[in-house]
Amino acid sequence: METAMDAAGSATGTATAAAAKVALVGVHGFGTHHLRNLERLQSQGRVELVAVADPQPPAPGTVPPSAAVYPGLDDLLGATRDLDAIIVATPIQTHAPLALAALATDAELYLEKPPVASLADFARLRAAASASGHGVQVGFQSLGSHALKAIEGLLADGTIGTLEGISATGRWVRDRAYFKRSRWAGKRSINGVDVVDGVVTNPLAHAVATALRIAGARTTAELASVETELYRANDIESDDTSVVRIRTAAGLPITCALTICASDPAEPYVTLQGSAGTAVFHYTEDRLTVETTSGRTEETFGRDDLTENLLAHRATGVPLISSLVDSGAFMLVLEAVRTAPAPARIEPAHIRWEGDGDAAHPIVAGIEDALERAGRRHATFSELGLPWAVSTSTAFELPPS
Ligand SMILES: NC(=O)c1ccc[n+]([C@@H]2O[C@H](COP(=O)([O-])OP(=O)(O)OC[C@H]3O[C@@H](n4cnc5c(N)ncnc54)[C@H](O)[C@@H]3O)[C@@H](O)[C@H]2O)c1
Repeated sequence: METAMDAAGSATGTATAAAAKVALVGVHGFGTHHLRNLERLQSQGRVELVAVADPQPPAPGTVPPSAAVYPGLDDLLGATRDLDAIIVATPIQTHAPLALAALATDAELYLEKPPVASLADFARLRAAASASGHGVQVGFQSLGSHALKAIEGLLADGTIGTLEGISATGRWVRDRAYFKRSRWAGKRSINGVDVVDGVVTNPLAHAVATALRIAGARTTAELASVETELYRANDIESDDTSVVRIRTAAGLPITCALTICASDPAEPYVTLQGSAGTAVFHYTEDRLTVETTSGRTEETFGRDDLTENLLAHRATGVPLISSLVDSGAFMLVLEAVRTAPAPARIEPAHIRWEGDGDAAHPIVAGIEDALERAGRRHATFSELGLPWAVSTSTAFELPPS
């Protein structure tokens, strides 16, 4: 009998003898991105979407006819056998219970980022994953970028000299409607359950994860320190404008300066600060720009799809691109944010609102320049002496690894 073992033959799956049976949990919001990707793979005969689960059913015609629809994962698992992979794209606070239920089956798991909302849940999930023997892919899709291989190459051959530091810069705009879309948006917790939906851990989490990956910091053992300085311009619980300063176990500084309250939004980027040049990786665009005394080059790369990689992992054992274990360093950053004092409110005098009603969004005065300087100098906003930066950084006590 053919199995999903035959369905994916390389790092991202090539030979297609049998379609892998996949279930999707969470079909709206970011789940629609997975639906489209699964439809693409189904049209190639590599996947069969056999079931979906969501308390808010999909609109008629939005999931393939092959997919049975259930209100929750328990019902889905009660009625569905022999799944090869389960994709969980649901609110952050639901990840831990849904992931544990998925790992109790014989399927591989694709878990959206951030994997879970606390280090304690991360430890539970790691133990369950290890006991199950199944792969867990965490949805940091930027880690599939082929630019990362090119970056490894340029670091190895000394193109930008010695790597002295890394910065991650993110300046997006999110309006009031963004925080109204779901009850968990902008929450640190709901009724005592951790959510940790702030700029560092959700919208710009890829910036942090990509910077950590470039620094070679994957597991919880690979960080020496994490400091946070969290602010909010919106009327929310969580942070929307923050600096996280990290030092890897190898001594490399990484500073993430992130906001969703920009005036001039741009795609986020990770900067490698070398002794003889810089490399800037725009990870949403797979675009790498290298600048040295001999000039400037720019190249756009392809990327491996994380669902295909997960199915190939099941079939042939190829390594996962974004494994749960390798999200350990990111989880330390999340835990630092989770346990930090509540974000400091930026005084209205330093905020300008643009737009009306639900389309209104705040702009923090001088934020673009502040992000640049924070990243370049590895400084927090208060260390830069910004008039609105009334907080101080909080050092996270790393747990023994
Ligand atoms: N990788 C990325 O680039 C990326 C981008 C956006 C969001 N995300 C992640 O995707 C996840 C979902 O985010 P969102 O903004 O789409 O959330 P959302 O609140 O829009 O919810 C997504 C869907 O999950 C459903 N859902 C809620 N609880 C459920 C449950 N217990 N069982 C089944 N379905 C349930 C909701 O009804 C909804 O249809 C989050 O982890 C988020 O961080 C990832």
